[in-house]
Order: sequence, then C-alpha cells, then structure tokens
Amino acid sequence: MNASYNNPSDIKVAVVGYGGIYNMGKIHLNDVQKAGMTPRAAVELDATRLALAPQDFPGIQTYTTVEEMLAKSDANLVILITPHNTHAPLALQCIAAGRHVVCEKPFAITTEECDEMIAAAKKAGVMLSTFHNRHWDGSVVKALEVVQSGNIGDIVRIECHMGQWNKPGDIWRASKSISGGILYDWGVHLLEYALQLVNSEITEVSGFSKRGFWANLTKWKDDTIEDEAFATVRFKSGAWVTLCVTHIDSNPKRGMFEVTGTKGSMVLEYDTHEIIVRDGEKTIVTKAKNPKEKWEMFYVNIAAHLTKNEPLVITPEWARRPIHILDLADRSAREGRAITARYS
Ligand SMILES: NC(=O)c1ccc[n+]([C@@H]2O[C@H](COP(=O)([O-])OP(=O)(O)OC[C@H]3O[C@@H](n4cnc5c(N)ncnc54)[C@H](O)[C@@H]3O)[C@@H](O)[C@H]2O)c1
Repeated sequence: MNASYNNPSDIKVAVVGYGGIYNMGKIHLNDVQKAGMTPRAAVELDATRLALAPQDFPGIQTYTTVEEMLAKSDANLVILITPHNTHAPLALQCIAAGRHVVCEKPFAITTEECDEMIAAAKKAGVMLSTFHNRHWDGSVVKALEVVQSGNIGDIVRIECHMGQWNKPGDIWRASKSISGGILYDWGVHLLEYALQLVNSEITEVSGFSKRGFWANLTKWKDDTIEDEAFATVRFKSGAWVTLCVTHIDSNPKRGMFEVTGTKGSMVLEYDTHEIIVRDGEKTIVTKAKNPKEKWEMFYVNIAAHLTKNEPLVITPEWARRPIHILDLADRSAREGRAITARYS
C-alpha cells in the first residue's frame, strides 16, 4: 500500500463503540489526536454513551449505525472498539467501503476470520491493523532488553498466567460466543508479549479447558466462558510457551509472565520485574520497576505508515499469530489432541 496522505491531520478517524466499561473510545481518540490525526466521528448503539462523544470531542459527528457513518462521513480510518465477535464482520464492512481499519484486540476470534479480513484489505488496498497497545508495555520492553542482552541465555520456556477466584461478570466478556472464551481478553496480550520474545516458528498447539463450575451463576448459563483454559505452544527452536487464564485460582500468587533461559530467568508483573542470573557459583538478583508503557506509539506508527509509508509495526499477519494459537487451543481442548499449526 502506498502512503495515502500528506499530513496526519488528513487522516479523519471514526470510532465504532464508545463503551463505558473502560471508556476506550475516548482513550483511542486522545491518542489519535496526540499522533496529529483528526477525530471525525463516533458510532455507538447506546444513545447515552453516544451523547458523551461530542462533550469529549466538540464538533465530532455522531451516528447510531456503521452503515450511516460509512454513507455520510468522510472518515477514512475506522477504529473498531466493540465486542470481539463483531470485529470481523464490522472490519469487512468498513474495508468494503474503502476505509482503513484498526480493530481492537483480539483481531478476530478464528484464523479463518483473520484470513478473510487480510485478503479483503489487500484487495481493497487499505491498511488493516490491531490495537496491540501492550506491545509497548514496560514489562515486555524490559523483557526484550534482557533477552537481547544475552544475560539469561537462550529462552527455554515462557509461562503466562492470570488467575483470580471469582465468577465471571455479567458483561459480554463472560459469554463464550461473544468474547471467544476466557483466553481472548488478557490471553491475547500475554501471547503477543511471548511472540515478541520467542523469535521462532509456531509448530503445534495443545489446549485444555474446564467449564461449568461458575456457569449457573452468570447470566450466560450454557454460553458462559471457561472456568479455566490452558494452552501449550511448541516452537521450532524447541522453546515452549504456556498460557493459563483462570477464574478458579484459589491461591493467585504467581508471576504474570515468567521467562526461563539457560543462564537465568525473569519474573514480570505489570509494574515490576525480578531477574535472576546464574554466574558460576554466584546468583545475581535484580528487582526493579518496569519502564512506563508507551501505548501512544501505536497511533504514532499508524500515522507515519499512512503519511510516510513507514513499516506498520502491528501488521495483520502479526496479529493473526496469537489468534491462530487461541483458535487451535480451543479446537485442541474440544478434540482432546494437539494440533499442528497452519501459520508459523
Ligand atoms: N487494548 C486494551 O488495552 C483494551 C482495554 C479494554 C478493552 N479493549 C477491547 O476493546 C473492545 C471493547 O471493549 P470495552 O471494554 O470497551 O467494551 P464496552 O462494552 O465498554 O464497549 C463496547 C461498545 O460497543 C458498542 N457497540 C457494539 N456493537 C456496536 C455496533 N455494531 N455499532 C456501534 N457500537 C457498537 C456497545 O454499545 C458498547 O457501548 C474489546 O475488543 C476489548 O477487548 C482493549
């Protein structure tokens, strides 16, 4: 795709979804503005939430449907900030209307959806990316620095873990068919961390899941997400990554992200890290705060890509990798066997 615009301000942005759980519409448009692009339109089904957009961004156009926005607005970049099962259909609709698209994470729920979106964007000659803001989290930035320094040797394994003892809430994230499952929220961020560190091809995925413990206590009943899901990913290098997200963790103390290498290891929480290096008889332990996250870099890169043809950091092919793992893990858990990866 050739650079399309002279200035970042020529990139006029519509957000679809101005939801209230984390106020993500406002967060996106603030970063869009910081990157020099122009907030142009907000689309939201909920009238009360939609009414907030012009208060936050005076003069912004408001619409209740994507169809109407695509028909009437001159927005040329659409950001989808909606529940997970809507990402693929809304992206395809916007791409067909010739708009550049950024999807919130997860890119989509299945590998097939990712394939369809990537093919459609190529055919239409528009940009497609995913808001992997946590690519710039201080924890993974620190972890990359340590791995690249060679201080902990070659990566043997990475363990990603997020646990709590709590029934899933009554929001859409607790619905398996809407969210994709328990691994699709934070799990996709943790896999995206791991994929930055393990510079090797994915070969095989195994998945495990337990359902039914909390189900009757949520409004989704038969469609409630897993109580726990677990994935193991094999890489060509011999390294492996495990991912566990659970609501039945009665003792949730372990590190969020642990990297074990041949010479040392790292335990990363969101704000802090501990590095242990074995040097002969000596053990050197370093504990410190992580650098501050730089989420704004996502839209700085989008603007530079669309105006100066700078390489896209979060390409759709990159965003497909964690989705392929989650998709295969889900299938593997259902079929009770490991599944060979189709995309590395
Ligand atoms: N990257 C991050 O750090 C981060 C943080 C929070 C949420 N998210 C992601 O953002 C997305 C939204 O999550 P949320 O917590 O903001 O949810 P939310 O429920 O607060 O907001 C979603 C909004 O989308 C609206 N909506 C749904 N379908 C629509 C449609 N067709 N047209 C217009 N509006 C529509 C809903 O009315 C709702 O207000 C998810 O993909 C989630 O994973 C990412």
